[in-house]
Parts: sequence; C-alpha cells; structure tokens
Amino acid sequence: MLHGFVTFEGIDGSGKTTVSRLVAKSLQAQGHRVYLTSEPTRTWLGEAVRHAFDGEVGAVAESFLFLADRAAHLKEIQSHLEKRELVLCDRYADSTYAYQGARLEGLVDDPIRFLQRASESWMLRPDLTILLRVPVELARKRIEGRPNLVRFEDVAFLKKVAANYDRLARSRRFVVLDGTRSTDAISLDALSAIQKRLTRLRKR
Ligand code: ADP
Ligand code: TYD
Repeated sequence: MLHGFVTFEGIDGSGKTTVSRLVAKSLQAQGHRVYLTSEPTRTWLGEAVRHAFDGEVGAVAESFLFLADRAAHLKEIQSHLEKRELVLCDRYADSTYAYQGARLEGLVDDPIRFLQRASESWMLRPDLTILLRVPVELARKRIEGRPNLVRFEDVAFLKKVAANYDRLARSRRFVVLDGTRSTDAISLDALSAIQKRLTRLRKR
C-alpha cells in the first residue's frame, strides 16, 4: 500500500486538476487509499484568499492569507497521513513561492526565500512534487473560457511564475513532466513517478 504526500504544481491551465483526478482514480482502482485535496481550500480561509485576489489588499496580505489557508489545511492533510493514506494535493506551497514570489518582486528582498522562511518551520515538505510544464500561451488558450481570467490575462506575470517554478524544480523533490502531451500519457508518467518515489522512501 502506497502512502505519502504528493503535490501537483504548474501554471493555470497546465492540467493539474485533470491529471491529479486521473491519477487518484487509477490509484484507487489499484486498491490504494487516496485522499485528493486542493488549495486554495473550500473553507472560509480559502474563500478569503479568493477575495484577496479580487480586491487589492496588496501582495503581502495576499501572501499571508495563502499561508494561513495552508496552515489550517495542513491539519487535515496530517490526519490523513497519520492513517497511512496517500495524500494528493492540487497546488500547495510551491504555488505560493511561484505566484506570490512574483507578486512580491520589488516589495521584499528575494521573495521566494522570504516566503520559505515564513513557512518552512511549520510546513510539511511533500515527498514528491510533480510539476506540469506547459508554455504560458498554450495554458492560457486552454482556460480562455474561464470566468475569472483577469489575473491570467497577464502573460508577463505568468511567465515570471513559470520561471519561478523552473527555479524551484531544481530541487530533487520535483519531477517535471511535459504537460503538452495527452492527459493519459502525463498521468501514466505521474503514476510511475509516485510509485518509484514512495517505494524508495519507504524502504529507507
Ligand atoms: P489546472 O488545474 O492546471 O488549471 P485543468 O486540469 O483545469 O488545469 O485544465 C485546464 C483545461 O485544459 C481543461 O479544460 C482541461 O480539460 C484541459 N486540459 C488539461 N490537460 C490537458 C492536456 N494534457 N491536453 C489538452 N487539454 C488539457
Ligand atoms: P486555482 O487552482 O485556480 O483554484 P480555484 O479554481 O479553486 O480557485 O487557484 C486559484 C489561483 O490562486 C490560481 O491563479 C493560483 C493562485 N494561487 C496563488 O497565487 N498562491 C497559492 O499559494 C495558491 C495555492 C494559489
């Protein structure tokens, strides 16, 4: 039985929601106990975060709202990990580093480091993070029909986010997948990365 903590990351439209659902379904069909969750959460803190995006509270307040939502979510994640389930999370800490890292540019020194320092002492590190890499233009095309596109229209902003993801992905915690392929092909690669990483970690 596989257990551990796996996160899915990438820019909007990279396919995280589609792929994490397909992966969860396959793992469940194989008999694993899977808990699929996402951020921002569906709680009032997650809703507060979405408000922060609509209104202009500023990048610092926005950053700490995302961290607050995560801190509360972590309790729920921990409770499933304690039951030795396999937790899959559609967006997690690297979303804050990549997006708020871009938003905080010019406001604080080394934004990603600033955000990591504010969270690493209480945060749970994923066993594996799967980054779906897709060119900004293609990702944007995929989500053109979405209602709240204001932020996503800013291609320059999303390019900074993508560059932040690439920087974060230098860590060995990451596996980077080409997200331009079919969802089935991506899901198969994600499944094999999960199997490999969690089996190796549990052998230690
Ligand atoms: P995200 O959660 O990263 O924002 P979604 O999974 O919601 O992305 O996908 C955004 C849109 O792109 C959806 O309409 C989805 O059906 C489509 N999509 C996702 N992955 C692929 C893919 N690999 N190829 C083509 N379309 C895709
Ligand atoms: P999204 O995955 O689209 O969730 P939902 O569709 O449920 O609202 O996330 C909403 C936006 O929030 C998306 O543009 C990415 C952004 N975001 C951050 O900027 N920082 C974070 O820490 C997280 C989790 C998301």
